[in-house]
Amino acid sequence: MAEAADAEEESDEAPVRKEGEQVVTPWEVEAGEGGVDYDKLIEQFGCEPITPAQIARMEALTGRPAHRFLRRGLFFSHRDLEATLDAYEKGEPFYLYTGRGPSSEALHLGHLVPFHFTKWLQDAFDVPLVIELTDDEKFLFKPGLSLEEARRLSIENSRDIIACGFDPAKTFLFRDTDYIRELYPVALEIQKRVTLSQAMNCFGFQKSDNIGKVGFCAIQASPAFSQSFPSFLRPGMRCLVPQAIDQDPYFRLTRGVAERMKWPKPALIHSKFLPALQGHQTKMSASDAATSLYMTDTEKEMRKKINKSAFSGGGATLEEQREHGANLTVDVPYQYLKIWLEDDEELERIGKAYASGEMLTGEIKKILGDVLAEVVRVHQEARAKVDDAMVARFMDPHRAELAGKWCGEGAAKTTTTPTATLEAQPA
Ligand code: TRP
Repeated sequence: MAEAADAEEESDEAPVRKEGEQVVTPWEVEAGEGGVDYDKLIEQFGCEPITPAQIARMEALTGRPAHRFLRRGLFFSHRDLEATLDAYEKGEPFYLYTGRGPSSEALHLGHLVPFHFTKWLQDAFDVPLVIELTDDEKFLFKPGLSLEEARRLSIENSRDIIACGFDPAKTFLFRDTDYIRELYPVALEIQKRVTLSQAMNCFGFQKSDNIGKVGFCAIQASPAFSQSFPSFLRPGMRCLVPQAIDQDPYFRLTRGVAERMKWPKPALIHSKFLPALQGHQTKMSASDAATSLYMTDTEKEMRKKINKSAFSGGGATLEEQREHGANLTVDVPYQYLKIWLEDDEELERIGKAYASGEMLTGEIKKILGDVLAEVVRVHQEARAKVDDAMVARFMDPHRAELAGKWCGEGAAKTTTTPTATLEAQPA
C-alpha cells in the first residue's frame, strides 16, 4: 500500500462539485454562464499558461511561423514544455503521443483540432508520433457499445486521422486491443503504483463503476513512455502529449508515476474546446447532430446548421447591430473563424467590421461557411485516398521505415524481448 500511496506528487484531487461551478473531466464539460473559465482551469489543474516567449521560442527552434492554433491561443496551457524545448535545443529529440476514443462514425470539426496541431508539431520538430485508438476505453465507458463496434469505429476513425496528413515514415497508429501485448508490461508497472483511491479521486469513479474503467487509466498512460514502442523508439525518450485540456487528469496521474519510476515525465500541451454551435457554455459533441459540424456533412448541410444554430453575438435587429455592433467573445461564427481562418489580416479586418456594426451576422456566417466548406473539402478529398493498405501501413510497428531512426543501442536490446521477437518474426 505505502508503495503506491505517494505515487502522485501533483494534485490528484477531483474538482469538488459546487452549485454553478464549472466541471471539466474527460467525460464531462459543464461551463458557467460565460463559457469555460480557462484561467481558473489552469489554476485548478495546476498547469502553466503558454507564454508569447515560448511561442517565439518554438518558432526560433523550428524555423517556422507558429501554427495559428498557438498564435490565437487555442493551445493555451502546458506542463514541462520548456524542459522539452531545452532538451530539443541541445539535440535530444522527443516523440509525440496523442489519441482518440473511437465513439462515433464521423468526426466533427472539434476532433480535428488536436490532429491538425499534432501534424504541425511533427513537421516542425521533425519527430516521431504515436497515436492511440482507445477502443477498449469506449467499450468500457459507453453503455451499449459492443467491442466489435468499437474496433470497427477505430478503423473508420483512423482513415480520418491519416487524412490529416501525417508522415507514415514517422507515425505509428494503433488500436489498444491489437497492440496491448506491447503496452501491457508498461501498464502493469503503472497499475501497481496507482491506488484505487487515487483513481477515484482523480477521475471521480464511483463504487458502482466497472473495474475495467479503473484499469484503463494505465492503458492511456503507457504510450507516454517510449518503452511501449521497443521496435522503433529508444527507451527513456522524452514524450510530448498534445491533447484537449479535459485529458489532463490522465496525465497528472501518469506524471506522478513517472516521477516514482524515474522515467521521464511526459510533457503536455493543452487546447481549449471548440465551442458548440449553440454557444460557448459547452463543447461540440458528436452525439448532438443538429449542433455539430461533421466532416461528412455536405456543404449545404453545414451552411444550414451555421445559419440556423450558430449563436450570434450580433445585435438582435439590423438597427441594433448597425448601432452597437457584435460581441465577438460570445459570437460563435467569429470564434470559429478565429480557429479556422489562416489569414491574420483578414481575421482582423472581419473582427473590426463586425464589432463596429459595419458587418452583419449573415455576412460573417457566409464567410464562415466558405472557410469551413474548404476545410471539409480538403479533408474529404484526402480521406477518399486512404485505402486499406495505407491503414495497415500506419498500424505496423515493425516497418523498416520506422526502424533504426530513433533507437540508440538500448533499443536494439529491447527489440529482442520475447514479446517483440514473437511479433517481429515471420510465421
Ligand atoms: N481518451 C481520449 C478520448 O477519449 C483518447 C486518447 C488516448 C488521448 N490517448 C490520448 C487523447 C492521448 C489525447 C492524448 O478521446
